[in-house]
Amino acid sequence: MTLWNGAGRRIYMQEVGTRDGLQAETAFVPTEDKIALVDALSRSGLAKIEVTAFVSPKAIPALSDADAVLRGIERRPGVVYSALVPNVRGAERAIEAGADELNLVMSASETHNLANLRMTRSQSFDALSDVAAIARRAGVPVNISLSCTFGCPMEGDVAADTVMDWCSAFAGDLGAGGVTLCDTTGMAYPTKVAALTKAFRERWPGTELTLHFHNTRGLGMANMLAAIDAGADRFDASLGGIGGCPYAPGASGNVCTEEIVHGLELMGYDTGVDLGGLIDASRSLPALIGHDIPSQIVKAGRRLDLHRPPADFEAIRERAHSR
Ligand code: COA
Ligand code: ZN
Repeated sequence: MTLWNGAGRRIYMQEVGTRDGLQAETAFVPTEDKIALVDALSRSGLAKIEVTAFVSPKAIPALSDADAVLRGIERRPGVVYSALVPNVRGAERAIEAGADELNLVMSASETHNLANLRMTRSQSFDALSDVAAIARRAGVPVNISLSCTFGCPMEGDVAADTVMDWCSAFAGDLGAGGVTLCDTTGMAYPTKVAALTKAFRERWPGTELTLHFHNTRGLGMANMLAAIDAGADRFDASLGGIGGCPYAPGASGNVCTEEIVHGLELMGYDTGVDLGGLIDASRSLPALIGHDIPSQIVKAGRRLDLHRPPADFEAIRERAHSR
């Protein structure tokens, strides 16, 4: 146990607000506003941005402008612009629009995979094998986001062995360069997170590992610290803490990027992110999505954003001293 003293250790922050976040919104954010949001995020120093999803527009109408968004953004050197794809059609569209990385998606839970992707896990894996082959030919790297790795809201616990078997299928057989363990509906807790992170790191030391937490039950930050302690250095998070899978009952927002960056920087980690820029971008969200956002940092400010004492403070002080 390191007591989480960051000591300058690099933590890579990956923004998923424009994908995981906006997919859950009923409001359609205009294409040019999505592009401006991604551009603001690019300037804030994030390692990777999951810009959008090339999925069926019937399944996720909020992201039906994926092609225009990915083509319209400014590319900042050093930032990886990723896109979620569920099938060959999505892969072709994403490659055509210039994605730096394809983020494949399937669920470790059979029930959630059927609900979300309308396929069995084995059908998804076959389809994603074709996607990986297309990506290989195009020279585009592949990451797999495995949903419900810490539990499924319809099935309950998902066995660690099942999760490791799917990791093996993708990191080993399919040659994916990265694996994301997703806690789709906030069922993870720190001891479980530490065990799975450690097991993954030991078995696949050369594969990029990302942890993707939702703060559904308030354990987001605790889970991240447990993952860091067990060897993880890459995390998905969403601006303002928006997000959630529309096909997972009870889903709610991702861990909030500015809350995480704020906390990790205080502890001495190096996220490479300009927190001020992130907070400004987050403040623009309510006007775009039409409702308040969960971000505690936007509400409360940073730890040392000080407040003026009450207007009658001098009178209070004099009264106290004269007693
Ligand atoms: N991009 C654009 N259109 C697509 C598409 C893609 N990647 N994949 C399928 N479609 C279209 C098809 O052309 C078809 O259109 P049509 O009805 O006008 O002919 C329609 O979507 C249905 O296609 P089908 O292949 O029968 O898919 P399906 O209905 O079995 O749905 C998925 C499967 C995977 C395409 C769909 O469930 C999906 O996109 N899910 C994504 C869910 C998601 O993003 N969840 C949150 C993230 S984890
Ligand atoms: Zn998610």
